[in-house]
Amino acid sequence: MSDNYKIQIKDVSFEYKDNKESFYALDNINIDIKEGEFVCLLGSSGCGKSTLLSLLNGLNKPKSGEILIDGKPIDGPGKDRAVVFQQYSLFPWLTAKGNVLFGIKQSKKKYKKKEREILAMRYLEQVGLGASADKYPNQMSGGMQQRVAVARGLALEAEILLMDEPFGAIDPKLRLELQELVSKLSIENKKTVVFVTHDVDEAILLADRIVVMEPQKIRAIVPVKFSHPRKRDDLVGKEEYEKLHRQLISLFYDNVLDNIYEEVAL
Ligand SMILES: Nc1ncnc2c1ncn2[C@@H]1O[C@H](COP(=O)(O)OP(=O)(O)OP(=O)(O)O)[C@@H](O)[C@H]1O
Ligand SMILES: [Mg+2]
Repeated sequence: MSDNYKIQIKDVSFEYKDNKESFYALDNINIDIKEGEFVCLLGSSGCGKSTLLSLLNGLNKPKSGEILIDGKPIDGPGKDRAVVFQQYSLFPWLTAKGNVLFGIKQSKKKYKKKEREILAMRYLEQVGLGASADKYPNQMSGGMQQRVAVARGLALEAEILLMDEPFGAIDPKLRLELQELVSKLSIENKKTVVFVTHDVDEAILLADRIVVMEPQKIRAIVPVKFSHPRKRDDLVGKEEYEKLHRQLISLFYDNVLDNIYEEVAL
């Protein structure tokens, strides 16, 4: 029943085509995602994670199959979805506040200037950057810039948040802080989240379910039953955590090794 799901990915395949060649990036993907659920797509480089996100965003269309949101097929990008990319996605000529406002101007056309500013500041404060609103990207660390990108994504107030390795380039300590922040904010703001990562620990910390991908396909869908909010320090060392971690590492690294063998065989 479509009513029970926020997002339904049904028998989705996708092919990249240029003049001479075509390449199957996704083959018959099926995932149903509930409202408020946090789903991580975990997989090695090139297995199709970003491609699947671009289909969810509506930038690309499936070759076959369909994606439904609230039971209706996606027709291009929409206000119901916000995207946060890996890095360098801020406009360098705008301040932190300017970057957040940029998104708000698109999504909240009816808001007055003052209302937009209040909203921008509210989200900058949520990510701990209220005092840095007037800084430009080149005056902020990578982690601060990523927090602005998260604030910009949240400020769109879309029901669905699509995140493509948003913390890939950030040092481990700050990364953990941002992971815990995103987990907290997505629950508080009742988001349905699809979050791409190739980091097993990150996936366990954030996800309600982890979709382990292999090239073009889903290898396994693994539920994570720890209650939210999660703290890495509370989890690591627990028997259940270590068991899940081992299971995911073996699912994930089998894929990676398979890829390497395929490349060697070629
Ligand atoms: N524009 C394109 N044209 C042709 N092939 C592409 C294009 N974009 C991606 N691909 C191919 O599709 C496959 C999936 O790419 P995708 O970017 O979705 O992988 P990914 O899982 O996001 O990888 P990564 O972890 O490195 O970001 C790869 O083999 C890639 O080479
Ligand atoms: Mg990618």
